[in-house]
Amino acid sequence: MSDRRPMIAGNWKMNGLREEALALIADLAERTGGPPSHCDVVLCPPATLLHAVDGAGRRGFGWGGQDCHAEANGAHTGDISAEMLRDAGCGHVIVGHSERRADHGETDAQVRAKAEAAQRAGLVAILCVGETEAERDAGDAEGVVVRQLAGSAPSALAPETAIIAYEPVWAIGTGRTPTLEEIAAMHGRIRAWLDERTGQGAGFRILYGGSVKPDNAAEILALADVDGALVGGASLKAADFHAIIAACPGN
Ligand code: 13P
Repeated sequence: MSDRRPMIAGNWKMNGLREEALALIADLAERTGGPPSHCDVVLCPPATLLHAVDGAGRRGFGWGGQDCHAEANGAHTGDISAEMLRDAGCGHVIVGHSERRADHGETDAQVRAKAEAAQRAGLVAILCVGETEAERDAGDAEGVVVRQLAGSAPSALAPETAIIAYEPVWAIGTGRTPTLEEIAAMHGRIRAWLDERTGQGAGFRILYGGSVKPDNAAEILALADVDGALVGGASLKAADFHAIIAACPGN
Protein backbone atom coordinates (compact mmCIF):
# COMPACT_ATOMS: atom_id res chain seq x y z
CA MET A 1 0.00 0.00 0.00
CA SER A 2 1.11 3.51 -0.57
CA ASP A 3 -0.29 6.94 0.11
CA ARG A 4 -0.13 7.99 -3.53
CA ARG A 5 -3.19 10.07 -4.32
CA PRO A 6 -4.64 9.03 -7.68
CA MET A 7 -4.97 11.54 -10.50
CA ILE A 8 -7.30 11.64 -13.47
CA ALA A 9 -6.01 14.09 -16.05
CA GLY A 10 -7.84 15.16 -19.19
CA ASN A 11 -5.79 16.04 -22.24
CA TRP A 12 -8.10 17.94 -24.55
CA LYS A 13 -5.43 18.13 -27.26
CA MET A 14 -6.36 20.63 -30.00
CA ASN A 15 -10.05 20.66 -29.18
CA GLY A 16 -12.35 23.21 -27.61
CA LEU A 17 -13.71 26.64 -28.36
CA ARG A 18 -14.63 28.93 -25.53
CA GLU A 19 -18.36 28.30 -25.31
CA GLU A 20 -18.27 24.54 -25.62
CA ALA A 21 -15.36 24.40 -23.19
CA LEU A 22 -17.18 26.41 -20.56
CA ALA A 23 -20.25 24.22 -21.00
CA LEU A 24 -18.14 21.06 -20.67
CA ILE A 25 -16.50 22.30 -17.48
CA ALA A 26 -19.84 23.35 -15.99
CA ASP A 27 -21.36 19.98 -16.86
CA LEU A 28 -18.39 18.13 -15.34
CA ALA A 29 -18.46 20.23 -12.18
CA GLU A 30 -22.16 19.55 -11.77
CA ARG A 31 -21.62 15.81 -12.12
CA THR A 32 -18.68 15.66 -9.72
CA GLY A 33 -20.13 18.22 -7.31
CA GLY A 34 -16.82 20.11 -7.40
CA PRO A 35 -13.35 18.66 -7.01
CA PRO A 36 -13.71 15.03 -5.89
CA SER A 37 -12.26 14.03 -2.54
CA HIS A 38 -10.87 10.67 -3.67
CA CYS A 39 -8.55 11.81 -6.47
CA ASP A 40 -7.00 14.82 -8.15
CA VAL A 41 -8.62 15.96 -11.38
CA VAL A 42 -6.45 18.00 -13.74
CA LEU A 43 -7.77 19.47 -16.99
CA CYS A 44 -5.32 20.30 -19.77
CA PRO A 45 -7.17 22.38 -22.36
CA PRO A 46 -5.59 24.29 -25.22
CA ALA A 47 -3.67 27.27 -23.84
CA THR A 48 -6.17 29.68 -25.41
CA LEU A 49 -8.78 28.52 -22.92
CA LEU A 50 -6.78 28.85 -19.73
CA HIS A 51 -7.84 32.42 -19.06
CA ALA A 52 -11.42 31.64 -20.07
CA VAL A 53 -11.57 29.50 -16.96
CA ASP A 54 -10.08 32.03 -14.58
CA GLY A 55 -11.22 32.32 -10.99
CA ALA A 56 -14.48 30.62 -10.08
CA GLY A 57 -14.60 29.12 -13.57
CA ARG A 58 -11.84 26.75 -12.50
CA ARG A 59 -14.38 24.92 -10.35
CA GLY A 60 -11.67 23.73 -7.98
CA PHE A 61 -10.12 21.40 -10.55
CA GLY A 62 -6.41 21.40 -11.28
CA TRP A 63 -5.29 22.92 -14.58
CA GLY A 64 -2.43 22.10 -16.85
CA GLY A 65 -0.79 22.93 -20.15
CA GLN A 66 -0.14 20.43 -22.93
CA ASP A 67 3.44 21.47 -23.70
CA CYS A 68 5.93 24.18 -22.83
CA HIS A 69 9.11 25.66 -24.23
CA ALA A 70 12.34 25.07 -22.37
CA GLU A 71 13.12 28.79 -22.08
CA ALA A 72 11.27 31.21 -19.82
CA ASN A 73 10.84 33.80 -22.57
CA GLY A 74 12.47 35.03 -25.77
CA ALA A 75 12.30 34.91 -29.54
CA HIS A 76 10.35 31.67 -29.98
CA THR A 77 7.34 32.52 -32.11
CA GLY A 78 4.28 30.47 -31.29
CA ASP A 79 5.71 28.85 -28.19
CA ILE A 80 4.53 29.13 -24.60
CA SER A 81 6.78 28.95 -21.56
CA ALA A 82 6.21 27.08 -18.33
CA GLU A 83 6.22 30.43 -16.53
CA MET A 84 3.36 31.61 -18.80
CA LEU A 85 1.36 28.50 -17.99
CA ARG A 86 1.94 29.05 -14.32
CA ASP A 87 0.88 32.69 -14.75
CA ALA A 88 -2.31 31.45 -16.44
CA GLY A 89 -3.22 29.35 -13.42
CA CYS A 90 -1.64 25.99 -14.23
CA GLY A 91 -0.13 23.63 -11.71
CA HIS A 92 0.90 20.99 -14.26
CA VAL A 93 2.17 20.62 -17.79
CA ILE A 94 2.30 17.58 -20.05
CA VAL A 95 5.72 17.12 -21.66
CA GLY A 96 6.90 14.59 -24.22
CA HIS A 97 3.47 13.51 -25.41
CA SER A 98 3.90 11.12 -28.34
CA GLU A 99 1.99 13.52 -30.58
CA ARG A 100 4.61 16.20 -29.81
CA ARG A 101 7.41 13.69 -30.31
CA ALA A 102 5.89 12.63 -33.67
CA ASP A 103 4.44 15.92 -35.01
CA HIS A 104 7.28 18.17 -33.85
CA GLY A 105 10.20 15.78 -33.77
CA GLU A 106 10.81 16.35 -30.08
CA THR A 107 13.79 14.42 -28.80
CA ASP A 108 14.34 13.00 -25.35
CA ALA A 109 16.84 15.79 -24.65
CA GLN A 110 14.28 18.44 -25.57
CA VAL A 111 11.64 16.76 -23.45
CA ARG A 112 14.05 16.69 -20.51
CA ALA A 113 14.67 20.43 -20.94
CA LYS A 114 10.92 21.02 -20.94
CA ALA A 115 10.45 18.93 -17.80
CA GLU A 116 13.21 20.92 -16.12
CA ALA A 117 11.57 24.16 -17.29
CA ALA A 118 8.34 23.01 -15.68
CA GLN A 119 10.13 22.45 -12.39
CA ARG A 120 11.86 25.84 -12.66
CA ALA A 121 8.45 27.49 -13.05
CA GLY A 122 6.91 25.60 -10.15
CA LEU A 123 4.83 23.25 -12.28
CA VAL A 124 4.54 19.50 -11.97
CA ALA A 125 5.66 17.84 -15.21
CA ILE A 126 3.52 15.00 -16.54
CA LEU A 127 6.18 13.18 -18.54
CA CYS A 128 4.85 10.88 -21.25
CA VAL A 129 6.58 7.74 -22.46
CA GLY A 130 5.40 4.82 -24.56
CA GLU A 131 6.33 2.41 -27.31
CA THR A 132 5.00 2.08 -30.85
CA GLU A 133 3.29 -1.08 -31.98
CA ALA A 134 6.34 -2.15 -33.97
CA GLU A 135 8.52 -1.74 -30.90
CA ARG A 136 6.13 -3.85 -28.82
CA ASP A 137 5.92 -6.49 -31.54
CA ALA A 138 9.71 -6.59 -31.59
CA GLY A 139 9.70 -7.36 -27.87
CA ASP A 140 11.32 -4.02 -27.03
CA ALA A 141 8.47 -2.17 -25.29
CA GLU A 142 10.16 -2.04 -21.87
CA GLY A 143 13.52 -1.20 -23.42
CA VAL A 144 12.03 1.75 -25.31
CA VAL A 145 10.23 3.09 -22.27
CA VAL A 146 13.30 2.79 -20.06
CA ARG A 147 15.41 4.57 -22.68
CA GLN A 148 12.83 7.35 -22.93
CA LEU A 149 12.78 7.71 -19.16
CA ALA A 150 16.57 7.80 -18.96
CA GLY A 151 16.73 10.39 -21.73
CA SER A 152 13.84 12.64 -20.86
CA ALA A 153 13.37 12.60 -17.08
CA PRO A 154 14.55 15.80 -15.40
CA SER A 155 17.87 15.58 -13.60
CA ALA A 156 16.23 16.52 -10.29
CA LEU A 157 13.65 13.76 -10.44
CA ALA A 158 11.25 13.72 -7.48
CA PRO A 159 7.67 12.57 -6.86
CA GLU A 160 6.57 16.08 -5.90
CA THR A 161 7.56 17.61 -9.24
CA ALA A 162 7.19 14.82 -11.80
CA ILE A 163 4.48 12.36 -12.74
CA ILE A 164 5.05 9.65 -15.34
CA ALA A 165 2.37 8.83 -17.92
CA TYR A 166 2.74 5.52 -19.74
CA GLU A 167 0.97 5.95 -23.06
CA PRO A 168 1.59 3.22 -25.63
CA VAL A 169 1.47 5.07 -28.95
CA TRP A 170 -0.63 2.37 -30.60
CA ALA A 171 -3.32 2.65 -27.90
CA ILE A 172 -3.85 6.41 -28.29
CA GLY A 173 -7.14 7.21 -29.96
CA THR A 174 -7.49 3.69 -31.34
CA GLY A 175 -9.86 2.03 -28.89
CA ARG A 176 -7.18 -0.60 -28.29
CA THR A 177 -5.37 -1.09 -25.01
CA PRO A 178 -2.66 -3.40 -23.73
CA THR A 179 -3.86 -6.29 -21.59
CA LEU A 180 -4.07 -5.67 -17.87
CA GLU A 181 -1.01 -7.89 -17.46
CA GLU A 182 0.93 -5.79 -19.96
CA ILE A 183 -0.06 -2.55 -18.25
CA ALA A 184 0.83 -3.97 -14.84
CA ALA A 185 4.20 -5.19 -16.10
CA MET A 186 5.11 -1.87 -17.69
CA HIS A 187 4.05 0.18 -14.68
CA GLY A 188 6.04 -2.15 -12.45
CA ARG A 189 9.08 -1.70 -14.71
CA ILE A 190 8.70 2.09 -14.64
CA ARG A 191 8.42 2.10 -10.86
CA ALA A 192 11.50 -0.09 -10.55
CA TRP A 193 13.41 2.33 -12.79
CA LEU A 194 12.23 5.30 -10.74
CA ASP A 195 13.34 3.52 -7.58
CA GLU A 196 16.77 2.70 -8.99
CA ARG A 197 17.18 6.30 -10.05
CA THR A 198 15.81 8.12 -7.00
CA GLY A 199 15.29 5.61 -4.20
CA GLN A 200 11.73 6.95 -4.00
CA GLY A 201 9.96 4.75 -6.53
CA ALA A 202 6.99 4.14 -4.25
CA GLY A 203 6.29 7.87 -4.08
CA PHE A 204 5.80 8.51 -7.79
CA ARG A 205 2.45 8.62 -9.49
CA ILE A 206 2.39 6.65 -12.73
CA LEU A 207 -0.64 7.27 -14.94
CA TYR A 208 -1.84 5.05 -17.76
CA GLY A 209 -3.05 6.68 -20.98
CA GLY A 210 -4.40 5.32 -24.25
CA SER A 211 -8.08 4.64 -24.96
CA VAL A 212 -9.20 4.87 -21.33
CA LYS A 213 -13.00 4.79 -21.42
CA PRO A 214 -15.80 4.37 -18.90
CA ASP A 215 -15.99 0.64 -19.68
CA ASN A 216 -12.32 -0.17 -19.08
CA ALA A 217 -11.36 2.45 -16.48
CA ALA A 218 -12.22 0.48 -13.34
CA GLU A 219 -10.08 -2.55 -14.18
CA ILE A 220 -7.11 -0.48 -15.33
CA LEU A 221 -7.27 1.90 -12.37
CA ALA A 222 -7.47 -1.01 -9.94
CA LEU A 223 -3.98 -2.22 -10.90
CA ALA A 224 -1.50 -1.78 -8.06
CA ASP A 225 1.03 0.39 -9.89
CA VAL A 226 -1.52 2.45 -11.83
CA ASP A 227 -2.08 5.72 -9.99
CA GLY A 228 -4.54 7.27 -12.38
CA ALA A 229 -5.15 7.99 -16.01
CA LEU A 230 -4.29 10.49 -18.71
CA VAL A 231 -7.44 10.62 -20.80
CA GLY A 232 -7.78 12.04 -24.30
CA GLY A 233 -11.01 11.58 -26.24
CA ALA A 234 -13.16 10.59 -23.28
CA SER A 235 -12.17 13.76 -21.42
CA LEU A 236 -14.13 15.78 -23.99
CA LYS A 237 -17.42 14.25 -22.87
CA ALA A 238 -18.48 15.23 -19.36
CA ALA A 239 -20.44 12.01 -18.79
CA ASP A 240 -17.54 9.80 -19.87
CA PHE A 241 -14.89 11.74 -17.99
CA HIS A 242 -17.05 11.75 -14.88
CA ALA A 243 -17.55 7.99 -15.17
CA ILE A 244 -13.76 7.54 -15.31
CA ILE A 245 -13.30 9.77 -12.26
CA ALA A 246 -15.99 7.78 -10.44
CA ALA A 247 -14.23 4.50 -11.37
CA CYS A 248 -11.00 5.67 -9.79
CA PRO A 249 -10.32 4.02 -6.44
CA GLY A 250 -9.33 6.47 -3.70
CA ASN A 251 -6.78 5.72 -1.04
P1 13P B 1 -7.09 8.78 -25.95
O1 13P B 1 -7.67 8.67 -24.57
O2 13P B 1 -7.97 9.57 -26.89
O3 13P B 1 -6.66 7.47 -26.48
O4 13P B 1 -5.76 9.70 -25.82
C1 13P B 1 -4.83 9.38 -24.85
C2 13P B 1 -3.83 10.47 -24.79
O5 13P B 1 -3.08 10.69 -25.71
C3 13P B 1 -3.83 11.31 -23.58
O6 13P B 1 -2.70 12.12 -23.53
